[in-house]
Amino acid sequence: MEPVKVGLLGLGTVGGGTINVLKRNRDEITRRAGREVKIVIASARNVNKKRNFSTAGISLTTDPFAVVNRTDIDVVVELIGGTELTLELVLQAIQNGKHVVTANKALIAIHGNEIFAAASNKGVMVAFEAAVAGGIPIIKALREGLAGNKIEWLAGIINGTGNFILTEMRDKGSHFADVLAQAQALGYAEADPAFDVEGIDAAHKLTILAAIAFGIPLQFEKAYTEGIASITREDVDNAAELGYRIKHLGIARHVDHGIELRVHPTLIPDRRLIANVDGVMNAVLVQGDAVGPTLYYGAGAGADPTASAVVADIVDVVRSLTADPENRVPHLAFQPDTLSDVPILSVEEITTAYYLRIHVMDKPGVLADITRCLADQSISIEAMIQKEENEESKTVPIILLTHRLQEKQMIIAIQNIEALNSVVGKVTRIRLEHLIAD
Ligand code: HSE
Repeated sequence: MEPVKVGLLGLGTVGGGTINVLKRNRDEITRRAGREVKIVIASARNVNKKRNFSTAGISLTTDPFAVVNRTDIDVVVELIGGTELTLELVLQAIQNGKHVVTANKALIAIHGNEIFAAASNKGVMVAFEAAVAGGIPIIKALREGLAGNKIEWLAGIINGTGNFILTEMRDKGSHFADVLAQAQALGYAEADPAFDVEGIDAAHKLTILAAIAFGIPLQFEKAYTEGIASITREDVDNAAELGYRIKHLGIARHVDHGIELRVHPTLIPDRRLIANVDGVMNAVLVQGDAVGPTLYYGAGAGADPTASAVVADIVDVVRSLTADPENRVPHLAFQPDTLSDVPILSVEEITTAYYLRIHVMDKPGVLADITRCLADQSISIEAMIQKEENEESKTVPIILLTHRLQEKQMIIAIQNIEALNSVVGKVTRIRLEHLIAD
């Protein structure tokens, strides 16, 4: 049988990984797909650049449209990144009747609804396993393996760069900027690393996971995002003393009145498996009503791990080339005309527990004032520690853990606490999740 011809957009880290994996595992991949997979053309901004992988046998072009418009191509693999040019290229590829495989989480999170509608009209597939959690087959797991469940919530470490930075800072005392430079050299970081450290990349991925888990349209603009830059050594140590680790989590939870969609630093009990996911590794914990909790773990970034997901998608596409388009697995897991309009909640409406660090003057009645501010908002305290007085500022840090409550109650309580005369500076608050079935 004729090989399936692939056109590749982008010869960066993941493009190189994809060429290498397809070459290295050619026989296995052919046996799985039923046909050989051959990259015949690839585009890159600079085709003469020295690369650490071979492009022998692949025609190279600087014009990505030459790839998507080439008539003998069956599948276009988009590994360029960014959302403007890639949207144009992907829509053009679909228009030309090509199947598309992409690792582009921003593109799917922001333009996925439009892309999937165009693909359904043309009867082609758009596969995006590599867009979320690198090599972990989490899209497949959610869309197919857990299809019998009502997904209640999921929580994931879904940015490898951010987790790598937090781990190196905690374990080696390394500086933020140094570890970020290391992550960039290893090809983990986004072209604009602010996407990693500010949680935007994680929010793209969470948006995709939530759509597939709950059968809702992609709504990236409604995701709440907080980055890792505010995490201090002091809070990491306090959390450890209380039996917690601070991780940068993406959380999507289906509650009675809507869906929580949020990315932020989070204290989690250190005995949870996910609390021990370090370095560039990712993990996604999914709570289904039938299966209970399931945990998916693996490399979240890097050439070969991401290529593993890209190639799996190519194999999937090749296997279903002859299938009736109506009988393919729907892009967002649920049939497109059954997507739900359940609202995404604003962050004020989410329910979570909290870690608070409050610096106070060591005077009688201070603690009573603080607990009154919390009690006024019906906030119940779970644990408290008072640290040694800071010699310089003459203040005493008080660390509080609360039970779960609505964020809007906490906003009022913090305003009232910060207004107390004996409280110095701002209150630090980090959300806390136990990650157990409700
Ligand atoms: N910058 C991303 C990360 C790459 O670090 O997770 C994989 O999506």
